[in-house]
Amino acid sequence: MSYAKSTNFSGQIGFVLASAGSAVGLGNIWRFPYLAAKDGLLFIVLYLVLVLTFGFALLITDITIGRKTRRSSIFAYYAMSPKWRYLGVLTFLVPVLIMTYYPVIGGWITRYIAVYATGLQSAAADSAFFTSFISSTTSPILYGILFLALTGLVIFFGVQSGIERVSKWLLPLLFLMLIGIACYALTIEHTDANGQTRTGLMGLAYMFTPKGGELTLSTFLQVLLDAVGQMFFSLSISMGIMISYGSYVNKEVNLTKCVLQIEIFDTVAAMLAAIIIIPTIYVFSGPEGMSAGPSLMFISLPKIFDVMGTAGVITGIVFFVMAAFAALTSCISVLEPIVANIMDMFETKRKITTIVTTLVYMAAATVITLGYSSLYMEVKLPNGSTGQLLDIADYAATAFMMPFISLFTCILIGWIVGSKWIIGEIEREGNVFSMKGAYTFLIRYLAPVLMFILFLQSTGFLDYILKK
Ligand code: PHE
Repeated sequence: MSYAKSTNFSGQIGFVLASAGSAVGLGNIWRFPYLAAKDGLLFIVLYLVLVLTFGFALLITDITIGRKTRRSSIFAYYAMSPKWRYLGVLTFLVPVLIMTYYPVIGGWITRYIAVYATGLQSAAADSAFFTSFISSTTSPILYGILFLALTGLVIFFGVQSGIERVSKWLLPLLFLMLIGIACYALTIEHTDANGQTRTGLMGLAYMFTPKGGELTLSTFLQVLLDAVGQMFFSLSISMGIMISYGSYVNKEVNLTKCVLQIEIFDTVAAMLAAIIIIPTIYVFSGPEGMSAGPSLMFISLPKIFDVMGTAGVITGIVFFVMAAFAALTSCISVLEPIVANIMDMFETKRKITTIVTTLVYMAAATVITLGYSSLYMEVKLPNGSTGQLLDIADYAATAFMMPFISLFTCILIGWIVGSKWIIGEIEREGNVFSMKGAYTFLIRYLAPVLMFILFLQSTGFLDYILKK
């Protein structure tokens, strides 16, 4: 089946905004700040280096596979090498899994918009609020379903009238809000019970000061792998997502430029989110507040917004609306490759495929949400953490499948299909790809090694080997 022209993005801007919409998501707003708070400046520096090297190579690979084959992951891998088609199937399964829980978190964010819009900010400041919300049996399900319905609606209208149109509005608005709150965060100050006054700018300085203490090889490795994992998740690499989006790009578009622009959007968004969250936590809780991890966004921030009074309510609404936009544009990019692959496989029409898929995911999201209540369990994951259904799905997709797929995609491109296959497509229509040599070296040698180490670490094998 070949795509009709109407399923393409209208041009470079539409494609870049949609892809940046996919990249900028909870990974930037939620995960990057807490990793930067936990691992400090070293993490930020390593992350930037990785994005410009490995991130660039892997992202342009995904997009180019899509544009050259004009297919979604399953058929794209088949087109590269029929023997490797199972890798395409595995790649398809990543968004299939992520889609079960990403809308659940989108639903939580939507709930927090409602919290600030209805004057519940003091209730939300209670540490138990978040846990009791996610472990109740109806409200988180309804919010998740609402979020999914919105996602489905966008996909229903297709690439240009759905995804592209929504991204063109939401992404600029998202950046405006991010910049607005970041500027505000730098102006706040607070005097704590001991009479100590801390300001937003002091928090910013803290963020860019190297952590004291000795740097051992094992902490360096840990921070490096945190940064690699974050890079994958944040750039939506090795999930078949950018393959699908790439398949809708016109042949004359300059892919090198697009990838750079997507990376700039993604990195600036992550830095702005960190500039909002780290100084705010620093001002109100001091350096001790930095270790809160994933609970920073849903527990630590609401406490602070409550102390800030009216300014906190306004900041709270803007912050969670911004986070919801980020989550929505990412979530549509997870649903799109699922729908596209199904349409490819069964030759079905977009509208009916979207409706059925969305309904199936409403059921799946319900099950995942119940993982915090009636289906509660404590499963020890191979990387040492304990998780419920949401964490298990997240672990399987992002810690296990992504590095695995990336490792084998690099081997496929570097050793079997050949990097010329990719380079030729990038250089179509007279476009120049000046980093060909570096690209080939990275895909053939460096990336597979790094992916292999990441795979060992995220599956717990690395700890096991190092301890022996
Ligand atoms: N890249 C998105 C983010 O940073 C996350 C994402 C994950 C998007 C999975 C699509 C699929 O949040």
